[in-house]
Amino acid sequence: MAAAQLPYKQLALFYFSGTGNARFAAHKIAAFAREKGVEATVYNIAELKKDVPEIPESTLVGYCFPTHGFNAPPVLLKFIRKFPKGKNHVFLLNTRAGMRIGKLHTAGLGGLALWLPALLLLFKGYKTIGFRPLDLPSNWISLHPGLTDKAIRFIVNHCEQTLERFTGKILSGKPVLNGLLWLPADIIISPVSVAYYFYGRFALAKTFFASYKCTGCGVCIDNCPVGAIELKNDRPYWTYSCESCMKCMNHCPHRAIETAHGYTFLLWWLAFSLLPLLIIKLLVIMEVISAAFYKNNFDFLFNGSSILFGLIIVFAGYKLLHQLLRVKIINKIITFTSLTHFRWWRRYKAPA
Ligand SMILES: Cc1cc2nc3c(=O)[nH]c(=O)nc-3n(C[C@H](O)[C@H](O)[C@H](O)COP(=O)(O)O)c2cc1C
Repeated sequence: MAAAQLPYKQLALFYFSGTGNARFAAHKIAAFAREKGVEATVYNIAELKKDVPEIPESTLVGYCFPTHGFNAPPVLLKFIRKFPKGKNHVFLLNTRAGMRIGKLHTAGLGGLALWLPALLLLFKGYKTIGFRPLDLPSNWISLHPGLTDKAIRFIVNHCEQTLERFTGKILSGKPVLNGLLWLPADIIISPVSVAYYFYGRFALAKTFFASYKCTGCGVCIDNCPVGAIELKNDRPYWTYSCESCMKCMNHCPHRAIETAHGYTFLLWWLAFSLLPLLIIKLLVIMEVISAAFYKNNFDFLFNGSSILFGLIIVFAGYKLLHQLLRVKIINKIITFTSLTHFRWWRRYKAPA
């Protein structure tokens, strides 16, 4: 379609990105749009803070963001909540954890990542005409080593073609509804999305630490897109506002940021298994809970106690970890029981 015939003359793209995938998608879409004569502007949500630009009603608005815990990142949801009301057409593109298995490019799973922002935008008067998950290389390196360069190239090439087709279609005013195909799986996984949003993400943010290789250079603090890392006793400390986006771990020039697998395993076992059990038993001994009630409602008591006390113990344990890390030998033990410290546990480099 010639530029003059396209229904949108302008495109405003807002992105949030941890390791660069969503940024890559936003800039690619902008570049393809410009080739078609559409004026495209890209905004980084993390840099905009409160200054939301004015968007004319004829502008197509796009949001690109990673999927975190089968949901959109809280920072994006917060941004949309503050976004002024409007009647623009909008598209949503969530980048998910793509992998390469043999010759296959496998998909991640979005959960509520598209649906919650779409709902918020609907309340504000916007009309979402595009739902598109995009499976760029997985960056969740707390869980698995970063993909090989070859796998990354394979996935990125594939995604680049998808983005070109997507841009052409969405700019011509046609709805892009690929996201709808995932709706059944997204609904099934949605309880996990909710649990992650209200609970899991806080526990996860408390798994990062700076190893003995840390020089206190502050690169992680300066680069954190949500300003969640503070310097405490000359060491980086991850606060509750951490989105676990993985930017710090991938940007550290000394490869000093790790996930404390060994320590976290121990702490989570204490927080979600041993201590809740001991607390209930103590309440029975103190006759706050009757033995009969304990016997008949054990599962309820145990799960309730884990949910209630688990996070408190995790938070207290993280504060303790921060103190322990100051002792070099303990720092080394915690580092050596972290999987991410192995050289073969690659970091993730997003396409430029
Ligand atoms: C904490 C965390 C949670 C994630 N959760 C999911 C998920 O639920 N589903 C999924 O497909 N990918 C998930 N991923 C993978 C990222 O969404 C994916 O790699 C994304 O492309 C990263 O984008 P970015 O580089 O712009 O941050 C997760 C990654 C992280 C770090």
